[in-house]
Parts: sequence; C-alpha cells; structure tokens
Amino acid sequence: MKYYLAPMEGITGFVFRNAYHDYFAPMDKYFAPFVSPNQNICFTPREYRDICPENNRIPNVVPQILTNKAEDFIKTSQELAKMGYGEVNLNLGCPSGTVTAKRKGAGFLMETGRLREFFDRIFERPSVRISVKTRLGMYSLDEFAQLLEIFNEYPLEELIIHPRAGKEFYEGIPHRDVYFDAVGKSKNPLCYNGDLYRAEDVVRLAGEWDAAGDRLKGSQMYGLQKEKEPKKKCRTAQQKAVMLGRGILRDPWLVAKCRKAGQEPAVSGDEIERVAEDNTEIKQTGIRDFPSTTADTARIREFSDRLFSDYAQYMGERNAMFRMKELWLYLAESFAEADANRKKLKKAQNQTEFNAVLEGLHCRS
Ligand SMILES: Cc1cc2nc3c(=O)[nH]c(=O)nc-3n(C[C@H](O)[C@H](O)[C@H](O)COP(=O)(O)O)c2cc1C
Repeated sequence: MKYYLAPMEGITGFVFRNAYHDYFAPMDKYFAPFVSPNQNICFTPREYRDICPENNRIPNVVPQILTNKAEDFIKTSQELAKMGYGEVNLNLGCPSGTVTAKRKGAGFLMETGRLREFFDRIFERPSVRISVKTRLGMYSLDEFAQLLEIFNEYPLEELIIHPRAGKEFYEGIPHRDVYFDAVGKSKNPLCYNGDLYRAEDVVRLAGEWDAAGDRLKGSQMYGLQKEKEPKKKCRTAQQKAVMLGRGILRDPWLVAKCRKAGQEPAVSGDEIERVAEDNTEIKQTGIRDFPSTTADTARIREFSDRLFSDYAQYMGERNAMFRMKELWLYLAESFAEADANRKKLKKAQNQTEFNAVLEGLHCRS
C-alpha cells in the first residue's frame, strides 16, 4: 500500500508538510494544495512560496494545478518541471461553488467535450508526468462511466478518486462500489481517497480492493484488454494507494499504524483479527484508533509547537494562531474530551491562552 498526503488548502502547505515529514511516518507522496494560474501568471507570491524548491526539501512533493485552460496548465507545468518536479496533479475534484461556477475543479467534469480537448492538448508533449484527482461527477454518479472512458484514453501517472459527486461535498458515505467498479475498468493506476480515519478503515479497504481484483480475474479485466487501443499507451490498475486527508489531521500516527497493521501483504477486512493475532508488534501495541500513550501525544504536542513557531515566522503570531486553531479542530480528536478542548482552543485570545489549553490535554486511554 502507498500512502499519500491529501492537498488541503490552508492546512497542508509547506510548513505542515515539512514538519509532518520530520515527526511522523513519511508519506510516499505529498500533494500540495492547488495553484490557480491565469494567462498572466503561473503562481501568486503565496502559491510560489508553497511550492518553491527552497521551501520543499522533502521528497515526492506533487504540486496541484486548478485550471480548465490547457495553455495555462502547460505553461505552469513547464515552470514546475524547471523547478525539478517530475509530476503534477490536475484538480478535477474541488466542489466549492465559486470554483465549479467557473467550470473548474469538479465543475470541469460537466464539460466532457472540452475536457477531452484539454487532455488532448496537455498530453501532446507533456514536460512532466500528469496525475488527476477527481470526483465521480458534478451532479450524479452516472457521470462517471463516461469520465472513466475519457481518463482511459490518456496515460495518467495515476487517477485519484474521491468517490462522491461534487454536489455531495463531503456529505454521506463515499460510493465505494463505484470506486471498486473502476478498479476493473481503469487503464491507469488508481488511488482511493475519502473518509479513512483509522487503521481499520485502511485494512478493510485493502481487503475490498483484493476482493474486487479477484472477481475480475479471467473476466472483465481480460475483456477490457481487447477493447480498442487507447490513444496513448496506458498501464493497468495494479497498485494499491490511499490518499489521507482529515484522517491524518485527526491522527498524525495513522500511516505508522496502517504500516503496523501489515498493509504490505494483502489483508482482507474480515482478517483484521487474524492479522493482529499473527503480528507480534500489533499484539504488543494493538491497532489503536488514536494515540494512547504519553509518548504519542507528547510527539503531537512537539509537532504542534514546531508548526506554531514556523507559521509565526512566515505570517506573524496572530495569523499563526488562526492556522493552529483550524488544525486543532481535527487534532483535538487525538486526545480525550475532544469537543470540550475544541471549544476552549477556539476561545483562546493569544498564544499563552492557547498553550495553556494544550498543557491540559491528556491521552485518550
Ligand atoms: C480544508 C480543506 C482543503 C482542501 N483543499 C484541497 C485542495 O487544495 N485540492 C484538492 O484536490 N482537494 C482539497 N481538499 C480535499 C481533500 O484533498 C480530500 O479530497 C478530502 O478531504 C477527502 O479526503 P479525506 O476524507 O481523507 O479528508 C480539501 C479538503 C479540505 C477539508
């Protein structure tokens, strides 16, 4: 299993990415929040600061581009290639009304004709590998069959799917059935994203993924190979990868726990207990939902202190505190009495008050 950090605007900028990499289990890729180019500029100063090489010394950072104009995508990816990036990601998932109204993000999914033309242009002579992060459609899951046909015509580095329609935002349960259907139909490697909060969630997903692969053996998968050749040579969907967003904010130990839970060998959801039984490390530590030792929570505290001081250096103490308050809406979940602590942190007027609340935190069990 590969693990990727989700791009989260306002949270997983370079300060967060660098600190996370120093303190917790490293990710296989770190997707940066989107840059939004126009005909005049590729990056605003703030966007440039987030992706410039000086601020990104950790490996495998993938910048993301939000646009529906091929020329802006090409120009920006050329700039990113010059900075040393080998992959860029196209945002076809942002559900925000202001973005979709301009037919960008998930809004671009409605314009399948233009999307094809866009892909034809950007895959003509790409200067970097191109991955795509998508939703299942803008309004309906039924849109996905046609979208997948389009994606299958191009050699994507990978296709990251958040299996909800744009109009669903983050509500309800992700449509995993549609995702696993794509496991059989995608000619590009896939990555799953959405609502993975605990090691158990990832273990279960891996099991479902294997089951979907088994169902396909000898049937649909091989049928697909005979279909008309794609415009460009594509690879089949073999790898297993997950992109973690809010889960990693709630519990920065999540990747370490997933790795402990044995996500290298294939594990079916029903076998969680058996895996725990067979794995001495898990037997000793358990697959824990959230940090439960003082050492775990102390590390989160150190991570938080590092973030606060790095943010303060770039944006001043007051703005740094706003950033930290937003992060702690999630991080509070790693500690006991999450709701009460969230309220107290929200009320903090300055760094001293904020730190006083953090001092009072204790682990969950
Ligand atoms: C505050 C916030 C900011 C986000 N910013 C971006 C972004 O810049 N680009 C993007 O593709 N997705 C963005 N997303 C979506 C996440 O990358 C991810 O798809 C979503 O949170 C679902 O994954 P999760 O359930 O693991 O959190 C954002 C989500 C949140 C909550």
